[in-house]
Amino acid sequence: MKLGVNVDHVATLRQARRIDVPDPVLAAQICEGAGCDSIVCHLRQDRRHINDKDLDELRKVVKTKLNLEMSCAQEIVDIALRVKPDQATLVPERREEVTTEGGLDAAANKKIVRDVVKTLSSAGIAVSLFIDPEKAQIEAAKATGVECIELHTGRYANACTGPEIASELATLSESARFARSLGLQVFAGHGLNYENVKEITEINDIEELNIGHSIISRAVFVGLENAVKEMLDLIR
Ligand code: PXP
Repeated sequence: MKLGVNVDHVATLRQARRIDVPDPVLAAQICEGAGCDSIVCHLRQDRRHINDKDLDELRKVVKTKLNLEMSCAQEIVDIALRVKPDQATLVPERREEVTTEGGLDAAANKKIVRDVVKTLSSAGIAVSLFIDPEKAQIEAAKATGVECIELHTGRYANACTGPEIASELATLSESARFARSLGLQVFAGHGLNYENVKEITEINDIEELNIGHSIISRAVFVGLENAVKEMLDLIR
């Protein structure tokens, strides 16, 4: 299974002082050096962590795959068309949320999502949709013309009891299988950490995990290179 490391929270720490360290671009290089398969960042409309300059620099230095998480806002679409990440992952975005809370409602926003998918795909950018593990969302995602989806693992990560965890895992596993049966590539992420990732790695239909907060948090204690390597040991 592949690992994409989200470096947003390196920029979150930088923005706590509004200076220029720690640098998410240097972080991306260290993550790649440690063996990750892609770098993920989210250029939010409020620029609360990653900013336009970070994105330009990341495009220059990332050698694996640059995966830009983004909303469907025209301003961000225009930036994506200029920067040309290898992949764009469309996510919902609300200014007041602490982090991306739910998946994109591809079923309710078919037209805008289809238009953005078409625009980005025509520019040679692979497009993925971050959606909840639900049949209707997977079918809606397929109808927009994407080739890949990222299943939201937040409900699994937040589940507390054994039965709840088992039920969320079964939902993720069935969703991944269904998406694969439609010819979609399947990624997953959100809320995954060193304790809960193992069970997800047992779902063979999932190809790649995108993980941010837990890796950057662990890096505070063991260093970023070690934090990435520890996660790679768990998922490979
Ligand atoms: N995937 C997507 C689409 C996300 O929005 C995020 C959070 O930015 C992640 C994965 C990573 O989540 P976490 O930081 O909880 O590992």
